[in-house]
Amino acid sequence: MASTVPPLASASIAPLQNDGLKANFKTGTSLQCTFLGKEFYKAKQSFTRTSMTVAVKVSRFNDITMAPPDPILGVSEAFKADTHELKLNLGVGAYRTEDLQPLVLNVVKKAENLMLERGENKEYLPIEGLAAFNKVTAELLFGADSAVIQQQRVATVQGLSGTGSLRLAAALIERYFPGSKVLISAPTWGNHKNIFNDARVPWSEYRYYDPKTVGLDFEGMISDIKAAPEGSFVLLHGCAHNPTGIDPTPEQWEIIADVIQEKNHIPFFDVAYQGFASGSLDKDASSVRLFAARGMELLVAQSYSKNLGLYAERIGAMNVVCSSSDAAVRVKSQLKRIARPMYSNPPIHGARIVANIVGNTELFNEWKEDMELMAGRIKSVRQKLYDGLKAKDNSGKDWSFVLKQIGMFSFTGLNKAQSDNMTNKWHVYMTKDGRISLAGLPSAKCDYLADAIIDSYHNVN
Ligand code: LMR
Repeated sequence: MASTVPPLASASIAPLQNDGLKANFKTGTSLQCTFLGKEFYKAKQSFTRTSMTVAVKVSRFNDITMAPPDPILGVSEAFKADTHELKLNLGVGAYRTEDLQPLVLNVVKKAENLMLERGENKEYLPIEGLAAFNKVTAELLFGADSAVIQQQRVATVQGLSGTGSLRLAAALIERYFPGSKVLISAPTWGNHKNIFNDARVPWSEYRYYDPKTVGLDFEGMISDIKAAPEGSFVLLHGCAHNPTGIDPTPEQWEIIADVIQEKNHIPFFDVAYQGFASGSLDKDASSVRLFAARGMELLVAQSYSKNLGLYAERIGAMNVVCSSSDAAVRVKSQLKRIARPMYSNPPIHGARIVANIVGNTELFNEWKEDMELMAGRIKSVRQKLYDGLKAKDNSGKDWSFVLKQIGMFSFTGLNKAQSDNMTNKWHVYMTKDGRISLAGLPSAKCDYLADAIIDSYHNVN
């Protein structure tokens, strides 16, 4: 909108904020400034000299474009906006009860009560996090009797769940292994690439998923890991690969470890589901333990979002296994140095919950039962979904891959258009790569989901 100020003797306009700014001076009569149709300035006057400050109301952030919604968390936003009664959110990997309610485990409530009873304070944690948490988290992962723990070869720092822990490690790689590449499975969890991009760590993909078998492309994986430059970091999903739910067999893990050792690569595990995938903490840590037992140096990010349901508490850890305790002390000091300017020190609540549960035999046993229950419910809906697909689809398509997958996700093999059909027609919210979270599926909806998948698979190209 054009604006007019009273007659002026002289005028200066500062600063010129944008090429779109146009000023028309009419000395002695009026001064007029326009900015592409927008109102924008204040004027200051004096008798002899008038200076005008242009306080542009147009944002300095004008050139910032709209970011796309997050491919995973954005699905929940779209789900909330849908009012259809049959809507189902299988997008984000978050556990729901049979009544589709989020679950706060009783054992977590008990651990929180302990905190209240003890009157624990809210003082800052050290940069590396809660000592009691760091101790139990490393022991849960590697086993308290393992050589790496006994020899104090693990540098553990508390992290902001899996993502924050991965981000710390990415910063460590960028700083101390400049130019080293991280090999990432194709496909992988959507945030992995963001993390390494933001940390300016180069990455490339190794083959993992074979669409023909909806299974593991083991040969492709091995040959890509072999072909990578010596000393690369190989990102591996400790168990329950996200998004495919397809894990290597124990024999295949041995071969992967052989190749990584031969090539002098550094294994880098993301362990987001320990105990939640199979129901057993030990079984789900077996891949990591196999590598650690070989004496290899490795990195492991941990998360307690799924197995303890502590999603919003952002509790996890970064563990770096070193070949000597001395190196571990130095690595830990550098992880702290990276953490301090990022977020200063981590939050205490989730760390205390984990430490209180694992440190108390009764609570620890209760948690193990909870994990078995959650993993069991997911396995049962997986079976029910498969039964529905098999019974309803007369085309002869083999849906048995659903049963072979493990963990909270099933990779359906549906493409983007088919996934869109799932959402637009059936109100089933899922990620566009064809992943569904079975942790959000109640038994009562398995048949409905089977109908939606069959329709999308056969009727949409
Ligand atoms: C997922 O993959 O759905 C979860 O890990 C949630 C997330 O942060 O992406």
